[in-house]
Amino acid sequence: MAGSISVLNQPTSLPVYRDLSLEELAERTEAAKQALGDRVLILGHNYQRDEVIRHADIEGDSLKLSQIASERSGHDYIVFCGVHFMAETADVLSKSGQTVILPDMAAGCSMADMAQIEQVDEAWEQLAGILPVEQTVTPVVYVNSAAVLKAFCGEHGGITCTSSNAQRVIEWSWKRREKILFFPDEHLGRNTANKMGVPREEMLVWDPFLPNGGHTPEAIKKARLLLWKGFCSVHQMFQPAHVRYFKEKHPGIKIIVHPECHEDVVNLADMSGSTELIIRTVSAAAPGTVWGVGTELNLVNRLKRRQPEKQVYFLSPTVCQCSTMYRIDAPHLCWAMENLADGRVVNQISVPEDEKRWARIALERMLDVS
Ligand code: 13P
Ligand code: SF4
Repeated sequence: MAGSISVLNQPTSLPVYRDLSLEELAERTEAAKQALGDRVLILGHNYQRDEVIRHADIEGDSLKLSQIASERSGHDYIVFCGVHFMAETADVLSKSGQTVILPDMAAGCSMADMAQIEQVDEAWEQLAGILPVEQTVTPVVYVNSAAVLKAFCGEHGGITCTSSNAQRVIEWSWKRREKILFFPDEHLGRNTANKMGVPREEMLVWDPFLPNGGHTPEAIKKARLLLWKGFCSVHQMFQPAHVRYFKEKHPGIKIIVHPECHEDVVNLADMSGSTELIIRTVSAAAPGTVWGVGTELNLVNRLKRRQPEKQVYFLSPTVCQCSTMYRIDAPHLCWAMENLADGRVVNQISVPEDEKRWARIALERMLDVS
């Protein structure tokens, strides 16, 4: 276990790694991995670059990777190739004594930053001024959020969700309380509710910069689903015109998109779902089929290469790449792994114990309904 290991958070030696070729970096990363053996587990989110994903023991979406983090207690170190909130989730769900490492601490998520705990506390207080909030509103937080928000949900009878289980989580929540405050992604909430046939007038958008989210007390009392005004800047780049273009150009094409896209895109698409569902669906399709895929570019390019007997198109004419996922690269991974192999923990993700306790409750509620 991590015992006497020293902890470093500054990549002072990183410039040296930048001078190495991709092949040198790959060889050195694998050598460090061999030296560490079963002590290390490398998890890679589906949006990671090829140069990183080639070293992952497990690839997956947010749900799959959090399930793995909660189950694999036999590894001392989990090197998480993804973004900050994912590594925090792994730290919350892993066993005590396991250490979670994020190869670049600057790998954040702009959507996660759109809900701050002070804003959520304030929204909760404003709701409490209108209705008995603890009895009537379940807070539901998308895992694309800081651990402190997951802790907020744990403490207030709420739950987390991912793009894989949002519908089951919404059903769970409505069985308990009549309303949901869903944050930070308006679009995942709305698209899921649309799929469930929830009437439009039962949803409203909560703008955290306006008093009472921008609504009258009467409107709030009537609504069942309060959708935080947050979004993913990558997925907002896909447009209905892109779907129409591909449908006209390739009759018979199937369009599959991530539910973080705007509802106008999701409604025109044939299917929507998590990154894992997208990969599984296209992989299982018959040879010769044609697909237009609306999610992050690294995933789509890899899918294209791995499924050469199908035609896979990226749905947007512009580059929709998650710049923060992209921060995890071969030099950072090699640097983190070689330090670990030399007995130094770098870039440890460590959620404070009080947050961890409540965040785990919210995450475990989700894993139970998944
Ligand atoms: P998945 O849970 O579908 O992998 O999505 C995570 C994400 O950040 C999408 O932008
Ligand atoms: Fe966050 Fe969007 Fe990147 Fe996903 S794609 S990690 S939601 S910024």
